[in-house]
Amino acid sequence: MSPLDSVLASIPSGHPDEALARQINFERLPAHVAIIMDGNGRWAAQRHLPRVEGHRAGIDAVRDTVETAARLGIDVLTLYAFSLENWKRPAAEVSTLMLLLKRYLRSELQTLLTNNIQFRVIGRMEELAPDIQDELRTAIDRTVKNTGMLFNIALNYGGRAEIVDAARRAIESGVRPQDLDEARFAGFLYTAGQPDPDLLIRTSGEMRVSNYLLWQIAYAEIYVTETLWPDFRRRHLFEAVLAYQKRERRYGGINPVPAVIGAQ
Ligand code: IPE
Ligand code: IPE
Ligand code: MG
Repeated sequence: MSPLDSVLASIPSGHPDEALARQINFERLPAHVAIIMDGNGRWAAQRHLPRVEGHRAGIDAVRDTVETAARLGIDVLTLYAFSLENWKRPAAEVSTLMLLLKRYLRSELQTLLTNNIQFRVIGRMEELAPDIQDELRTAIDRTVKNTGMLFNIALNYGGRAEIVDAARRAIESGVRPQDLDEARFAGFLYTAGQPDPDLLIRTSGEMRVSNYLLWQIAYAEIYVTETLWPDFRRRHLFEAVLAYQKRERRYGGINPVPAVIGAQ
């Protein structure tokens, strides 16, 4: 089934999302889409609910986004779920986020397997609670042979920490300083071997990168939507991809550079 057919198969006919899907140029898809899932707290506040209800509602957006991205034929999807700085939040909020993550992994593992999705974690996973690590390890191991979309979850992740970790690994590897260049260094990052994000989406209108994929977003196209994460659905991902396809990428030159098809 072509990606367009696969996408259309998931949309009830006559639904407005169908027209949007038909506008997508499948020859010019971003190879890697990275998302800063933001606005859960505000979503809850608007409804006079506790912040954690926003996180709970955000799970539906994760489910929808993962499935839509896989159907579209995106090679890599990276979702920012918990930053190193998020430990500053109240302990009860942190533990609810971890609990929700665990539940998500349990309930969605079968969907990941059915959709041939490979699951990975980027971040300092070893600092997470042992039960969370076990759950993550299970999802990683069970999906390791999948050949479809690569789904990275950024957990206990910081962009600067990643660069420091990469520098440490480079030193430990014994690479000679004169042999270290950008390509070699990228091979020590958590995302080694993956294409850089072409499209960086942030929900809830904030115009900042919040320590996300600092090395990898050097030339990413940035798309900020006012939509709060719990409200983000298939349609919003289509809109972001369509906006991306209208951009002119130059990489410092004077002429637009065409998208590399099948960059991975
Ligand atoms: C994003 O929503 C979820 C995480 C950071 C885990 P927030 O919790 O940051 O929601 P706002 O920004 O307070 O609305
Ligand atoms: C970024 O959102 C982190 C995640 C989405 C996991 P934050 O809500 O933590 O970012 P700031 O604090 O507004 O910059
Ligand atoms: Mg936030």
